[in-house]
Amino acid sequence: MKASLALVVLPLVSASPTWQRPQRNQTYPGLDVLAKRAGLLYFGTAIDNVVLDNEQYTSIAHNRAEFGQVTPSNGQKWMHIEPQRNVFNYTLGDQVSEPGKAAGQLRRCHTFVWHNQLPTWLTQTTWSKDELIAILENHIRNEARHYYDECYAWDVVNEAFNDDGTWRDTLWLRTIGKEYIALAFQFARKYVSPRTRLYYNDYNIEKVNNKSLAVEALVTDFLGRDVPVPIDGVGLQAHFVTGRTQRYNQTVAALKLFTQHGLETALTELDVRTVLPDLPEKQEQQAADYTNSVQACVDVEGCVGVTVWDFWDPVSWVPETFPGEGNALLWDAGFVKKVAYYRVSDMLRGYA
Ligand code: G3I
Repeated sequence: MKASLALVVLPLVSASPTWQRPQRNQTYPGLDVLAKRAGLLYFGTAIDNVVLDNEQYTSIAHNRAEFGQVTPSNGQKWMHIEPQRNVFNYTLGDQVSEPGKAAGQLRRCHTFVWHNQLPTWLTQTTWSKDELIAILENHIRNEARHYYDECYAWDVVNEAFNDDGTWRDTLWLRTIGKEYIALAFQFARKYVSPRTRLYYNDYNIEKVNNKSLAVEALVTDFLGRDVPVPIDGVGLQAHFVTGRTQRYNQTVAALKLFTQHGLETALTELDVRTVLPDLPEKQEQQAADYTNSVQACVDVEGCVGVTVWDFWDPVSWVPETFPGEGNALLWDAGFVKKVAYYRVSDMLRGYA
């Protein structure tokens, strides 16, 4: 049962650019501490392997007061886990998961089936349908053996739809057909701990649109079968743009598309990128966008947590993908917390 809002500190887009960074840290005990008080299960972050030699980074990443859950942003992807056929390598996944375990952090595992970051042995061969189904089952069986019950949730299938709601043209769809998603969930349920929540995860589904309705149709089909396909949750990635982020009401409506079917939900990859150069006004807008998104999750029963897609600007995926955009995360390049960090904290402190 989530806490109710005692005091709403609504972020003002027009707030003064002369905003001063708070000095009294006791008011800001950490995002996960505040999120739990507001009724969420966790406030989490993705962690990338490329910065694990930076002690300042890892000390924040595995600070349980800030982050109660960690997600390897790359380490568990197919190209790293099974770089050659039937050869499994858990080095990069373990680099994130082992310190997370030591710190008592939950983990979201990411991801079994995606069209991206696949090894060349998989993409450069023409497989028969039966061969690819066997490869899929073997991959899930082996990785599930290694991380069996360590993951609170697992993104079983990632990004299977286009923005218009049609099915994305992938190796999986072309070779196996639409049943590949159901098969992946069935294999995951067979081999992963029964305690692990199995998620479908996608972006641009944070409002009611053709894509989120297509995902809803998928889960309706799964749950309505004589033998239901085992799915527990839907992850809304929430990759947003400063000033163009979904409004609170839209995110609430999208979350409820899935909770109305008894599924749990989460914001799984939240970030809010800014068209550079950054300005104080943009940081205020970004803070409002972050706050509205997190608050939508807090206010929807069944939205269990929020994960930011990393927390330190230099490691964000954004600049490589969207040249000229960046500063999407909660800590700046100097490891200084941004306005968005404080606004999200203030909003969470309003719940008790
Ligand atoms: O591994 C090399 C490293 O050796 C090298 O030093 C470094 C130099 O830039 O590059 C490293 O590889 C990069 C890798 O991330 C690790 O940081 C790749 O170039 C880069 O393309 C790769 O990007 C990842 C991207 O997925 C791939 O599509 C991002 O980090 C990762 O955050 C991003 O995550 C995805 C989610 O899985 C699914 N949803 C969307 C999200 C953002 O694209």
